[in-house]
Order: sequence, then structure tokens, then C-alpha cells
Amino acid sequence: MNIIVTETKEQLSEQACSIFEAQVKADPESVLGLATGSTPLGTYEKLIEGYKKGNADYQRVKTLNLDEYVGLGPDHPESYRTFMEENLFGHLNIDAANTYIPDGTADDLEKECLRYEEVIEKVGPPDIQLLGIGENGHIGFNEPGSSFDTPTHIVELAASTREANARFFPSIEDVPKQAVTMGIRSILKSKRIVLIASGERKARAIERLLAGEIDEAFPASALKNHDDVTLIVDRNAYQFVDGKG
Ligand code: F6R
Repeated sequence: MNIIVTETKEQLSEQACSIFEAQVKADPESVLGLATGSTPLGTYEKLIEGYKKGNADYQRVKTLNLDEYVGLGPDHPESYRTFMEENLFGHLNIDAANTYIPDGTADDLEKECLRYEEVIEKVGPPDIQLLGIGENGHIGFNEPGSSFDTPTHIVELAASTREANARFFPSIEDVPKQAVTMGIRSILKSKRIVLIASGERKARAIERLLAGEIDEAFPASALKNHDDVTLIVDRNAYQFVDGKG
């Protein structure tokens, strides 16, 4: 695993942005794997700034998102489709038809999981996949205990994940209880993975990722089975690894 430690979250975002821009410049038809959550927001802001400066052209880029809440459609303010439109897609010259996110409102969710897996096969795998990490080590919505050998599937969200995400909803009761997520097997198909983590809240997870065993109880540890992972982490999230916290 390549590790880049930055002093600030801003620098983390700049580093992640430049990796993604370099990918798009090298191959204008790149397939980008994308994540939601707070951590990528800075990276997305930098990508938008870069686009405005002419650093990269997204016209032929395709994107595959990791996950979506069950029951939240594109018109719901907290759906991940809305998140991506507001925080990235709506600001780039990307073709909406080339942006893929699981449909959390599909009548038959099992079928939707199969369909999304076919999309990954057809469009992907991503040349580069951006990941955040949960405090409990989840990646995508693969919660502790998830098999490393799963494709896109429906998950019950851990209570801690619903609590962590309640900040975006009027109350905890409004946070969906399920999500559709790429499985760890799908995520590991990406050619290259960039995991970003910022702040003290993530420090124990980063410590366990780097010092711990490969273990289904800690989903992010599956990344150790991939040969091209870059971890970009700010000093606060790295504090228990370098002992400077
Ligand atoms: C979101 C996702 C999640 C988040 C994780 C961290 O698409 O896949 O695994 O990356 O929950 O979220 P933040 O960045 O909000 O701390």
C-alpha cells in the first residue's frame, strides 16, 4: 500500500484530485469509481475548480458509484444520486448517461443488484476507485462481518453507520435502514484504489487498517489483497500510526 500523509485535509483533497485529474488526462475515456460522504467533498471541489481551469475534460468519462440508500430516489435530497449531482456531476461536462449509481428505489432490489453488477462488468471495472472508510472499517456499505467474496448486494446498515449519517437527515428515524452497495469483490476489481481518510474520528480505523490482520471483521483490510492501493490520510487520521498525535 502506498501511503501519503498530508498535514491538512485540504492537502489531502489536492492530492486525491491530482491523481484523478492525471488519470482523466491520460485516458479521456476513463472509468472513475466514486464515493459519497463528507471525506470526498474537498476532492470533488478541487476537481470542479480544476475543470473550470481546463485541467481535465469529462465529456467521455464514465463513473460508477459505490452505493445508494434503499428507498431514496434521485429526487430525494439525501439520495446519493442527488449528492453526486450537487457536489460533482452538475459542475462538470460529464454526460449524465455515463454516470451510474445503484437504484435504491427499484421494485426488485435483488434484480437491481444483478443489473448493477452487469453494469460494472460492461462499463468497468473502474480505472481508479475512490473510497472513504467508516469508523468501523466499512468500505462502500460493506459492514463488519461482510464476506470479502460478495458482488453488489443489499445490506442492513449498522446502527453506528446510521448514527454517523444521521447528521444529514432531520432525525435518525429518517436514515434508511438498508442500502445497495458494491460488494468487496466488486470493489477489488478496480484497477487502482485510492482510499482517503481525514480527522481524528478515523484514526483508530487507519491504525487497524495498517497494523491489523486481514479480517472480515474489518472490511477495509480486504484492500491488502489488492496490489495498487494508495492511502491518502491527513495527520489527524494518521496520529496513532506515527505516534505524533
Ligand atoms: C459512501 C461510502 C461510505 C463512506 C464512509 C465514510 O459512498 O461508501 O463507505 O465512504 O461511510 O464516510 P465519511 O466520508 O462521511 O466519513
